[in-house]
Amino acid sequence: MNIVNGFSKLTKQQKIDWLVSQYFQGDLSVTSLLKSYWNSDAQLQKLHDEFIENTITNFYLPMGIAPNFVINGKTYTVPMVIEESSVVAAASNAAKFWSKRDGFKATVLSTEKIGNVHFMFGGSKQNLVRFIEKLQPVFRSRTANITRNMEKRGGGILSIVLKDKTDELENYYQLHATFDTKDSMGANFINSCLEEFANVLREEVSNFDLFSIEEKESLQIVMSILSNYVPNCLVRAEVSCKIADLKSKEIENPQEFAEKFVQAVRIAEIETYRAVTHNKGIMNGVDAVVLATGNDFRAIEAGVHAFAAKDGKYTSLSHAEIVGEEFRFWMDLPLALGTVGGLTNLHPMVKFALELLGKPKADDLMKIIAVAGLAQNFAAIKSLTTTGIQQGHMKMHLMNILNQLKATETERQKVTDYFKDQTVSHRAVVDFIESLRK
Ligand code: MEV
Repeated sequence: MNIVNGFSKLTKQQKIDWLVSQYFQGDLSVTSLLKSYWNSDAQLQKLHDEFIENTITNFYLPMGIAPNFVINGKTYTVPMVIEESSVVAAASNAAKFWSKRDGFKATVLSTEKIGNVHFMFGGSKQNLVRFIEKLQPVFRSRTANITRNMEKRGGGILSIVLKDKTDELENYYQLHATFDTKDSMGANFINSCLEEFANVLREEVSNFDLFSIEEKESLQIVMSILSNYVPNCLVRAEVSCKIADLKSKEIENPQEFAEKFVQAVRIAEIETYRAVTHNKGIMNGVDAVVLATGNDFRAIEAGVHAFAAKDGKYTSLSHAEIVGEEFRFWMDLPLALGTVGGLTNLHPMVKFALELLGKPKADDLMKIIAVAGLAQNFAAIKSLTTTGIQQGHMKMHLMNILNQLKATETERQKVTDYFKDQTVSHRAVVDFIESLRK
């Protein structure tokens, strides 16, 4: 048993020593490996050490850039942090393709964030409604010091509504609060407001004369937390062009391509097995930019997938249609993002990414990220319905295989030349390298 007490109080070196002795038989090459990922700039390393508890080293992911993203007439080079070989190439390919067809259009449809105080109450609903009505100004005044700065920036609390959930769970009610958090993701702001609302409920219940003693005693706060489900924080990304204009090096027959593309999207709309993978491809683009810009990808993932199932069945996030001679492809995506606060002020690479994007406001970033998702989806469906996904994917994966096999520069050159017109598979590359090494 490797149970350890007071671990968080050890120094970084002591933590590594403990780890190496407990799990790696004191192998000092493990210590060297961990340290080889430390930044040589001690200040910069300290910054990263302090992001979380018990940091022992850094874990690299590549940051790539996808140029040529034309969004509402403006051209962006989009930073992407992702480990999957073909994602940046696919994004760049789709961006270039649409840059020649007027680019992407993106529109923010709404920017409302949500939080809930979940509580139990075992008395008269009518009395509870009156209680919450009476508390409305108190909720506002008690959170005034939290909301002051946000209001200066044009945001704040939008509404606080009582929701009766007793049909689904005995005695369960909520305060359902909506917020505008402007350029911050707003999690801390929302949670602070909610916890204050809960304090108000707790403190004011005994002063409310309409309640009986039993009613007063029955009110119990369970928890106060923002919701990562943000169906009213929505952005639309779209592309469209004349079907004939889809013609390109890779698309010889645009009509056939457009029809097959629309079929592929229809399949994702009706078939959950396909929808999940289809949406995963969208999230390849979305998460990569979310990570690069220091946003919370778990929150985004949770919210997006809940949205994909909002009508009771998990379905495609994107849609496509042919209207007359026109091909249209679009998606609405719930994205609660921040461009101020959190990691955005702290992480040098996040600052870099935001500068590269021209210091976007949160609603600009919503547009960029939704477009990255749509571009990724376009690239995936284009490959799937034409050449198949493996051709491009394995070409990109070739470098990983060569690294695994510790190929020399000469071997790399020979392999790259050979596989220019051959199907790449792990086995085929191994066989080819072995034949070179004989
Ligand atoms: C792979 O990461 C993503 C795809 O599977 C997406 C899709 O199937 O649409 C290629």
